[in-house]
Amino acid sequence: MKKIKIRGGKPLKGQIEISGMKNAALPILFATIITGDVCVIENLPPVGDIEVTLEILQAMGAKVMRHNPTVVEVDTRDIKQGSSPAGMVRRLRGSNYLIGAELARFGRAKVGTTGGCNFGARPIDLHIKGFSALGATVTDGDGFVSAHTGERLKGTKIVMDKISVGATANILIAATTAQGMTIIENAAHEPHIVDLASFLNSCGAHISGAGTSVIKVRGVEKLHGCQYTIIPDMIEAGTYMVAAAATHGELVLNNVISRHLDAVSAKMREMGIIVIDEGDRITVKTTGSFNSAKIQAVPYPGFATDMQPQITALLSLASGISTVTENVFKKRFQYVEELQRMGAAISVDNQGSTATVLGVRKLHGATVTALDLRAGAAMVIAGLAAEGETCVLDVETIERGYFDIVGKLRSVGADIELVEE
Ligand code: UD1
Repeated sequence: MKKIKIRGGKPLKGQIEISGMKNAALPILFATIITGDVCVIENLPPVGDIEVTLEILQAMGAKVMRHNPTVVEVDTRDIKQGSSPAGMVRRLRGSNYLIGAELARFGRAKVGTTGGCNFGARPIDLHIKGFSALGATVTDGDGFVSAHTGERLKGTKIVMDKISVGATANILIAATTAQGMTIIENAAHEPHIVDLASFLNSCGAHISGAGTSVIKVRGVEKLHGCQYTIIPDMIEAGTYMVAAAATHGELVLNNVISRHLDAVSAKMREMGIIVIDEGDRITVKTTGSFNSAKIQAVPYPGFATDMQPQITALLSLASGISTVTENVFKKRFQYVEELQRMGAAISVDNQGSTATVLGVRKLHGATVTALDLRAGAAMVIAGLAAEGETCVLDVETIERGYFDIVGKLRSVGADIELVEE
């Protein structure tokens, strides 16, 4: 068991290097399967979910060679279809991408039920609907999703019922080797969808429109290996932006794509926080108090649901009353009770969709749990800002998506340590 101990109240000052984006790296690593070739992936974040992904690929027969912590060579020539270990698959939501990747390479797939952060039910009906539209016969039961198609999938027009990052990515992956043209309408716009499409195009796919609502995929028979660099993690960057403001500090975040953070920057400026945007780096500073705000967590390019817990932690220290509405997941305010232990004045409506945050002058240290990945980051932010000592439990949950959060924060002046028991 690991925990993070923080003695709060120290303004963060200095520079932090942002790692590669976990949620782009996950589909890209699984999509290397389609190539049946060697891919070199750079700027890979060495976080827990990525380590599990590499273990799954290895267990399936891939050769994984680490050039250094952030550069990995994956050779998927000898991968065996349907051989992913169910126990490891269950540890990730992103292992769903195995279905699309196996279908694209082998015309059939068998993958165990996937896991990931618990924000209530996380169905994969939209993924399955997409695979079925492409001509696959899909069954979901007994802990496995199985899919098969005669020879190749067949391109078609798919109108997504709802914007889904995972379903858009999975259908995109499957469609790369389908016969003819696939058109995905009402697609997710997230930067990681664009990154996945860029990776697949580097492997010989023909994808256009990624980053808009309509993505077109002209199927090719085969993909080949490539060398590819993952984009920076906008959620990691956003988390440190919020930490800078919460501690009344000044942080420079290097290796970012600042336009991916426009929604976070705009809200923080509205709150009276200084955000200086220089393209590949962002500076955040505040010296005095900051104002309340109204946040709507929605799909990109709006304010990301993955930044919702962190901004709520910040708003708990703002002047005035804020509201935060979660529009993507049904149960994403479970962490509010943990913030309340630290003195935050937050109430959530009966539907669990809107939190009303009455800003308090100070938070105080407490023992809290990282209930999910981003909620865990919110606990760390609250602990950095609070008076006294905070102990965050279940740190492995945070390490699934943040590379060396303790080291990075310590390098900018936080009094923080990782305790292993
Ligand atoms: C991904 C991210 C997660 C992020 C989320 C939204 C990964 C590994 N995870 O999750 O960090 O919070 O995007 O930006 O990249 N839905 C259905 N049926 C489906 C699929 C989704 O009803 O088949 C619903 C979900 O329950 C949710 C909404 O659609 O309410 C959006 O989910 P989605 O965008 O698919 O999220 P994930 O891909 O699971």
